[in-house]
Formats: sequence, C-alpha cells, structure tokens
Amino acid sequence: MTPTTPVSRLAAKDFVSVLDLAPAEFDHLLALAAELKVRRARGESSPQALAGRHVAILFEKPSLRTRITFVIAVRELGGEVIEPPPDVVFGGRETVEDVAHNLERWLSGVIIRTYAQERLARVAAAATRMHVVNALTDEEHPCQALADIMTLGERFGSTRGLKLTYVGDGNNVAASLAHAGALAGLQMTIASPKGYELPATVVADCARVARHGATLTLSNDPVAAVTGADAVYTDVWASMGQEAEADARARIFEPFQVNRDLMAAASPRAVFMHCLPAHRGIEVTDQVMDSPNAAVFDQAENRLHAQKALLALLMGKG
Ligand code: CP
Ligand code: NVA
Repeated sequence: MTPTTPVSRLAAKDFVSVLDLAPAEFDHLLALAAELKVRRARGESSPQALAGRHVAILFEKPSLRTRITFVIAVRELGGEVIEPPPDVVFGGRETVEDVAHNLERWLSGVIIRTYAQERLARVAAAATRMHVVNALTDEEHPCQALADIMTLGERFGSTRGLKLTYVGDGNNVAASLAHAGALAGLQMTIASPKGYELPATVVADCARVARHGATLTLSNDPVAAVTGADAVYTDVWASMGQEAEADARARIFEPFQVNRDLMAAASPRAVFMHCLPAHRGIEVTDQVMDSPNAAVFDQAENRLHAQKALLALLMGKG
C-alpha cells in the first residue's frame, strides 16, 4: 500500500544530529511519523522502504527503548537487523575507520550508541556509502528529540509558542531537545545548576536555526523557569558514563527535582516529560511520574514511529 505522504529522501547521508535536518525535512519527517502511527494502530503494514536492506545496531551503552524501537522499526519497514557484539566494532581490534569500510560493503546503515560524538563522526566520514544514525552519544540524542516534539504536537495540536522548561543537566537530551525546539517554534527554558548548563555551542546553533518565534533561555532558578510552563521535562542527573559522579551530582541537583511543588508553578495543564529511564525519587518523584499529566510513555511509544519515518526517509527506497 502506498503511503499518502510521499517518502522522499533526506539530503544528508547521515542523521547524527537534529541539525542534519533541513526545516522542511523536519516537518515532513514528523508528518510521516504521525501517519505511520495511524496506519499501525489500524493494523495496516508499513511501506516496505527497507526491503532487501540490512541495518546493524551497534550499542556501547545499555538501552531498552532505543534498541527495541529500532529493531521493530527496521523489521516493520521490511529490512533485516544485525546486532553484532559492540566489542568487535569499538573494541580496538582494528581502527574505527577500517570497521566502517567493512560495514559499508554489506550494510545500508548503522545505528550507533556510543560515548564521544566524534567517534560517530569518524564512522560517518569513513563510510561514504553507508548511512549512520545517532542513537545517543555523550553530546546528543536526536532520535529522542524527534519523538518528544511529536508527543508535544499530539498533546497540544501545535508546538509553536509552547513554553517548555527542561529542568536539570544540560546534557545530550537537553541539547537535542533544544535543537528540535528551535525548529518546532518552542519557547524553551533550560534550568540547570551553575556549571551544568547547556553548552554555548548548542545555544548558538539553536539561535541559527530558530524559526516560528522559537526562543531559548538558560536559567539557574528552577521555580522561576517552570512558572507558567506548558511542559516540564527532566532527565537523569548523571548520564551513562558519569556513574562515578552520581553522588556528588545528587547533592548539587537536589533543588532541581521535579516534584509536585515544582509542577505547581507550571500551567495547570502542564505535561511532564522524561526520556526515561527515570530514577524515581531522585530527579522526579513517583507522584509526578504517575500523574495523568505525564507523557513519558507516549514519548517512548513515539520513538518507534519517529524512527520509522527517519529510516524510511534516510535510507529507504524512494
Ligand atoms: N530514552 C532512551 O533512549 O532510552 P534507552 O536508553 O532505554 O534506549
Ligand atoms: N542523559 C541520559 C539519557 C538516557 C536515555 C544518558 O545519556 O544516560
């Protein structure tokens, strides 16, 4: 069955950052994701955009949502998934570039979760004929941000002018959300402890691509930042790879916990968002996680639909 939204290709070979998407591609991807979601709910099959294609999943860090949603996404688009152990790719048996030159002889794409974004960039640069997807690095988590904007669109109808406050570490999730928020027209505030703010490069990139009146403000005051927000977002205080800092960070970030008192400062209709996994009782309380205003499992579901749209547009048959 032919989808009503035509599946054209993205201009970039890789999706290592939300910034790889032109604004029109960003809009098109989200529209296709919404359409694929409706089709799946009706029990209809997806366009077989990856039929006959092989995609590898190479993850150096743990994952529940990203791994499972990418496996389902590739399969539902008619492709084959390979999940080699990460040590054969990143374990130092050969250079990352030599691994990439091998992989591109067999695969249409690789979906990578690793530490430094630079490692992902090296694979993407070496493999000139293989698509590379960022499934989380220390610096960015662009697939999460696509699902998050999709979720906001579902909840509010439009994302333009929505006030979203991210409370916590200016980390990978915050960076990609800020990129996507700039394209989606969000009025975004990021409240972090001093020394844990969003990097200045991310702020500059957001200013460069902002449209539909999007704004980005940094704050060190969680209550002021949340006041009147339509959506409150948080993430873990210590990301994967920062486990040794967890205790110190827990003390520093304590005033930034998303609890009922903090949510009371937001709009009464405010949704709560978290990329998950959540550390209940640390960055967010049970009451907030379990409240009817929590959109966290919608976000998790939308990972699947957004990533199907991404894969179809990035490496699918036209
Ligand atoms: N949100 C997210 O990326 O979850 P996983 O780490 O479980 O993949
Ligand atoms: N910031 C978190 C996100 C997990 C999905 C991490 O990198 O561990």
